[in-house]
Amino acid sequence: MARYGDPMSVPVILDVDTGVDDALAILFAVRHPGVDVLGISCVAGNAPLAQVVDNTLRILDAAGAPAIPVAAGAVRPLLEPARAARHVHGADGLGGIALPPTRRRAEQAGAVELMRRLILEHDRPVTLVALAPQTNLALLLRTHPEVAGNLERIVFMGGSASVGNATAVAEFNVWHDPEAATIVLDANVPTYMYGLDVFNRVAVDHDVAVALEHGDDPLARVVGALLGHRVALSEDELAEYTGLIGDAGAVCSIVDPLALRTEVRPVRIELAGYGRGQTLVDLRFSPGRDDAHGLADGWTNVEVALAVDAERIARLFLDTLGARA
Ligand code: BDR
Ligand code: CA
Repeated sequence: MARYGDPMSVPVILDVDTGVDDALAILFAVRHPGVDVLGISCVAGNAPLAQVVDNTLRILDAAGAPAIPVAAGAVRPLLEPARAARHVHGADGLGGIALPPTRRRAEQAGAVELMRRLILEHDRPVTLVALAPQTNLALLLRTHPEVAGNLERIVFMGGSASVGNATAVAEFNVWHDPEAATIVLDANVPTYMYGLDVFNRVAVDHDVAVALEHGDDPLARVVGALLGHRVALSEDELAEYTGLIGDAGAVCSIVDPLALRTEVRPVRIELAGYGRGQTLVDLRFSPGRDDAHGLADGWTNVEVALAVDAERIARLFLDTLGARA
């Protein structure tokens, strides 16, 4: 469990669209002593906003969390309609794992105000962990740019230096609101990208997930059910099984940064055409030599996670949740 106010723990705000793997990330963040969850802001993404808020509050119960403030944010991206990922996260956004109703309530104030207050009031720089489309972050940084002065960095799950998932080239969180992601990259805050290049690597074995789901420990049962969740069951369930810890890996990277190989690379986001939502990551030996073509502007240096010791991160995740089978 987090040691609240512990000077050794990293103060974070989670921005989520809970979401099966956002749920895993919340469980990990609340239970790991190196992370101090100051608050959670919710945004439409994997599921509609009201569902995201309800899922988040219920997961905090499952985690046995103290009274962490939760607030509702944007109901849709800056320009486009919301497009929930029901085919991935199920109709309820939690793969139908049926958590009990909660007595927790969201804050009256919205997500932007909650984030502003938590960041400006904290006595140490805060890490903003974006595990969802970045609409809330963009609104925050445009409305209250002064928060940048007390941000340690932004760690975001999103983007890819290789393959996409929402489209062939675009990752879901960035694709869902590419204008917001562009505003965030432009905000002059140190940024760390935990993209599909590493997101798609960290998984828990099927046997372990099954053992957790059918074990005695209530928290482990939730973890196992989330890991084992499949919306569309195939005849061969094992062939469908991925067991990715997903967004939770981005939080793990804060606790164990040396388990990842990162490089500082110029990044920009494509806004037009089929490539809309793609993160362009300049991986050239000598990046940024585009002046001659008039293409030098619009890039931001980002610390990009390109490789991960997947077993080490999976072990950290399971050990933290007392869920080692
Ligand atoms: C991202 O989109 C969502 O499906 C996950 O929660 C994750 O944040 C992966 O593209
Ligand atoms: Ca997410």
